[in-house]
Amino acid sequence: MRDVTSTWTEPQNTPLALLLLGQGTDPASERGVDCPGDLPAPSDPGLVARARAAKEALGSRVFVLGHHYQRDEVIQFADVTGDSFKLAQQAAARPEAEFIVFCGVHFMAESADILTGKDQRVILPDLAAGCSMADMAVLGQVETAWEHFQDLGITDQIVPVTYMNSSADIKGFVGRNSGVVCTSSNAKRALDWSFEQGSKVFFLPDQHLGRNTAVLEMGFDLDDCVLYDPHKPKGGLTDEQLRDARMILWRGHCSVHGRFTLDSVREVRERVPGVNVLVHPECRHEVVRAADYVGSTEYIIKALEAAPAGSSWAVGTELNLVRRLALAHPDKQIMFLDRAVCYCSTMNRIDLPHLVWALEELVAGRVPNVITVDEKTAHEARVALDQMLALP
Ligand code: 13P
Ligand code: SF4
Repeated sequence: MRDVTSTWTEPQNTPLALLLLGQGTDPASERGVDCPGDLPAPSDPGLVARARAAKEALGSRVFVLGHHYQRDEVIQFADVTGDSFKLAQQAAARPEAEFIVFCGVHFMAESADILTGKDQRVILPDLAAGCSMADMAVLGQVETAWEHFQDLGITDQIVPVTYMNSSADIKGFVGRNSGVVCTSSNAKRALDWSFEQGSKVFFLPDQHLGRNTAVLEMGFDLDDCVLYDPHKPKGGLTDEQLRDARMILWRGHCSVHGRFTLDSVREVRERVPGVNVLVHPECRHEVVRAADYVGSTEYIIKALEAAPAGSSWAVGTELNLVRRLALAHPDKQIMFLDRAVCYCSTMNRIDLPHLVWALEELVAGRVPNVITVDEKTAHEARVALDQMLALP
C-alpha cells in the first residue's frame, strides 16, 4: 500500500495565495469589516483547549457548521461538515440550537439565518469572510438587467436562478420573480425545473456553473448561452442575442476555481499516466470538459472515498479540502490539480483565534457577529430557497 503522507506534494506558495488573510479591513470583500473584539494570539498554545472548553460550556445551545474548505484547525470543532447545500439543510434542521456558529462565508450564514427560527442567532466568526463571486452580482446591477429584459418583452419567458453563492438580496430578487436557488449539488435539477416553468434561464452569478450544467449535463449548445456583462451597456449583448438565448449567464466567477487551466490538466496527465482528473463545476468550461469527473465538494469527497486503492487523482478544488482528502486516503495518490497554492482566502479568514473568540464571547453572555437578513428580503429569499429544498 502506498503511503501518501509521504507523496503528498504541497503546491508552491504564491504572493496571491493568502491575499486577504488576517485581521485587517478588506473593502473589496462581500462584507469587509474589522473584527470588533480582542482576538487571542494565533500562537497561543492553549487555543484548542479553550475552544473545547467553550464548546463544552455551551453544550446543546451551540451548533457549529463547517464548510469543507475550512482550515483543519477549525473543522475539528464542527458538529457537521458539508457543502453549501448540506449546510443549508443542517441549519434548517436544528431548531433547538440557540446559536449557529457558521464556519463558512457570509452568504452561507445569511442563508442559515433565513432558514432558521426567529429565536436562533447565526454567528460568523469573522465578518470579513465574504465571497468574491457573490460580490460580482450587486442587486442594482441585476435589477437594471431585468428592466432591460422587461423592455425587450422577454421576462415572461425567463426564470431567474441564483447559485447559493450570492447575497440574500439577490436570492430575494429571484424569489420575487418566481425563480429558484441552486447549489453545485443540484444545479441540473434546478435547471430542469426552471425549463419546465419557462423557456429561458437568467443564471446568477457563476457563469461557469451555469454553462457547465447547461452544456455538459443538459445537452445545450455553447451558442444557446450568452454572457451578460453588468459593466457594459445592455450587458454587451444585442437584442437579438438576448431574444435567441436559452441561458443568459451573469459574468461572475469563483476566483479560486477560476485559476485552474487547461494547461494544469495537460501537465498532470503528462506527469502522472492514468491519473483521474476530478474538478468542481465552478471551474472554467474547457477545464471541466477536459476533466474525467465533475461535481460538488460532497461529490468529490464521495468519489475519492469510493476510488480503488492505488488509483491516482488530480483534484481541482480548494486546497484545504484536497490536502485533507489526501491525508485521509493514504492508499490513493491524491494531488492538487495546480502546481501553485489555491486557497479561498475569505474562507481562510475563519481561523482558530476567531472561533475561540466567538465561542468565548457566547460563554460570557455576549453574542458577537450576528448575521441578520431583514424581514422582507428574508421572506422573498426564503421562497427561492424553499423552492430549492423542494426540488424533486
Ligand atoms: P459547494 O459547497 O456547493 O460545493 O460550493 C463550493 C464553494 O465554492 C463554496 O463557496
Ligand atoms: Fe466564493 Fe469561490 Fe471562495 Fe466559494 S471558493 S467562497 S465561490 S471565492
